[in-house]
Amino acid sequence: MTNNNIYFVANWKMYGNLTSLNALNKVINISRSKFFKKAKFIYCPPFTLLDQFLKKTINTKIEVGAQDCHFVNGSGPYTGMISANQIKKLGTKYIILGHSEKRSDGDTNQIINKKILISIKEKLKVILCVGETLKDKKNKKEINVLKTQLNSCLKNLKQKKNIIIAYEPVWSIGTGRVPTNADIYKNVKFIKNFIKKKFKNKNIVVLYGGSVNQKNIGILKKINNIDGFLIGGASQNYDKFIDIVKKTII
Ligand code: PGA
Repeated sequence: MTNNNIYFVANWKMYGNLTSLNALNKVINISRSKFFKKAKFIYCPPFTLLDQFLKKTINTKIEVGAQDCHFVNGSGPYTGMISANQIKKLGTKYIILGHSEKRSDGDTNQIINKKILISIKEKLKVILCVGETLKDKKNKKEINVLKTQLNSCLKNLKQKKNIIIAYEPVWSIGTGRVPTNADIYKNVKFIKNFIKKKFKNKNIVVLYGGSVNQKNIGILKKINNIDGFLIGGASQNYDKFIDIVKKTII
């Protein structure tokens, strides 16, 4: 880990209902402990729970994010869609964009770029997911893929304020397989250098995501250029999530 704040982003995907909020107090309590001062907790539940999460986390250290938005902002005749403006108006601070599960639903780098520009305009903090497929990895194309994704997704963005990058190899998400620490280090280093060059020497928060769990966290936390984790499956269970936080920090 770096010496900065340590991010723990919980991506709940299409899981959870009202009863899933009951035990959130466990995380709220942990977040108040002096041992976890450096930790930043961001919960990204499905849209249906955003409002409840926001209410339950008022005056706590837990922040809330959405998992996507439509590429048209404001309001309009877009059945089934939710805009960045609607998300922001609810009080939400963060938004995950470019997740591979959305990319496989049809989100191209160009669409993600539109969503990013809109979200930044709405002053949401964007967590942009990038990462290679297994085929890319086998063909040693990781850096090329990252470069293309970063170039296209961040096109026309004037400053890197409010951008966080999550390095998430597609082949690692939900599979139990994680890259070696050396590979994560190398790819995160590329991302950080890319951002430094593009935005003139500014540091950026970069997270690792993909099958982070209680068993591998002890190894993953040794990577000294990452600023935290984007956690899917393991974040849906509060005890597992807290265990990951404890094992990272203590
Ligand atoms: P996972 O998901 O932890 O279940 O692999 C990570 C993610 O989708 O962001």
